[in-house]
Amino acid sequence: MTRPVPIPSRRTAIKAGLAAGAGLAIGSRLELFAEEVARQQELPLFTTVIPRTGERIPPVGLGTNRYSVSAPADIENLCNVLKTLTDRGGSVVDTARGYGRAEEVIGGCITENGNRDQLFLVTKYTESNGRRQSGGAPVDHMAQMELVFERLQTDMIDVMLVHEVRDAANLLPMMRELKAAGRFRYVGVSTSSDRDYRAMAPHLGRGELDFLQVDYSIGNRSAEETMLPLALEQGTAVVCNLPFGGRRNSVLSEMGDAPLPGYAAELDCTSWAQLYLKYLVSHPAVTAVIPGTTKVEHAIDNNGATRGRMPDAAMRARIEATYDQIAGA
Ligand SMILES: NC(=O)c1ccc[n+]([C@@H]2O[C@H](COP(=O)([O-])OP(=O)(O)OC[C@H]3O[C@@H](n4cnc5c(N)ncnc54)[C@H](OP(=O)(O)O)[C@@H]3O)[C@@H](O)[C@H]2O)c1
Repeated sequence: MTRPVPIPSRRTAIKAGLAAGAGLAIGSRLELFAEEVARQQELPLFTTVIPRTGERIPPVGLGTNRYSVSAPADIENLCNVLKTLTDRGGSVVDTARGYGRAEEVIGGCITENGNRDQLFLVTKYTESNGRRQSGGAPVDHMAQMELVFERLQTDMIDVMLVHEVRDAANLLPMMRELKAAGRFRYVGVSTSSDRDYRAMAPHLGRGELDFLQVDYSIGNRSAEETMLPLALEQGTAVVCNLPFGGRRNSVLSEMGDAPLPGYAAELDCTSWAQLYLKYLVSHPAVTAVIPGTTKVEHAIDNNGATRGRMPDAAMRARIEATYDQIAGA
């Protein structure tokens, strides 16, 4: 195998720049980052397949559970993040009725950016979302789900998920009706806790889910035991939430100042974020990952994980060993 020309990690590039002189301008460091990103952008885009239809999507998307903002400057920043995603070939955006104003903010950005046709929109609804809206009165969940289209400023949602597995028996049939009417393209259920796997498994086992959303990261691999194999068996697409293990004590902060392993260059990775996202999307059951970010720079970094070479099983084992060693897992 020809060894690839090693691409310096951002940390290495920045360190090299700093070593060149304490007076190095921030602009020069940004240039190094820009060069690195431009190199990566030339690499082939990796896509995954949605089992039910064979549709292909770029697997690294965006999580938006911190998109409930109101200040114009904050909204403008998030619209830039969403535009960065599609400008660089990404498409999956995950949101939920439960994320405050996030659906409204994203809907406004979609109209502002004019990029609806480049997006693969995933949102979630659950019974308590409706109860909160109607102040305890009986809830018309179909009507509540219709409001999602208004908030997201679109007439079609790609994936609608039940946000709480305990509501799946009640809400999934309604979601399937809206799917039959062409309003949702796929339906499913979401969780972010392995405590829900037992309740989720029967829905998955009966083939009721086009999509499953589940917590899966290098630091939390319990989904590999039953949920991912069952999803593969049932032809259910899998979206991984909390791909960095969440905002607090993320797998990225656990790496501290540790340098990227040398083999990261063989996978065209220039950051820990890219290495750990590639680890996830190279699992045969995984269709997409939705790293949460409010920063353009991080959206660009994460998008790098859709480019270039992907880990095989042996390389995935190596990535696990690296994480376990540094994190002391
Ligand atoms: N279905 C459910 O029940 C459920 C539950 C939880 C989450 N979710 C979904 O999953 C998404 C992801 O979860 P999450 O956002 O809580 O956690 P996460 O994606 O595991 O981690 C997010 C953290 O990583 C940082 N980050 C992102 N990209 C980075 C990069 N390239 N370099 C360094 N730091 C980076 C973010 O900070 P910055 O903002 O500074 O970039 C943020 O602090 C959510 O946004 C939501 O859409 C679903």
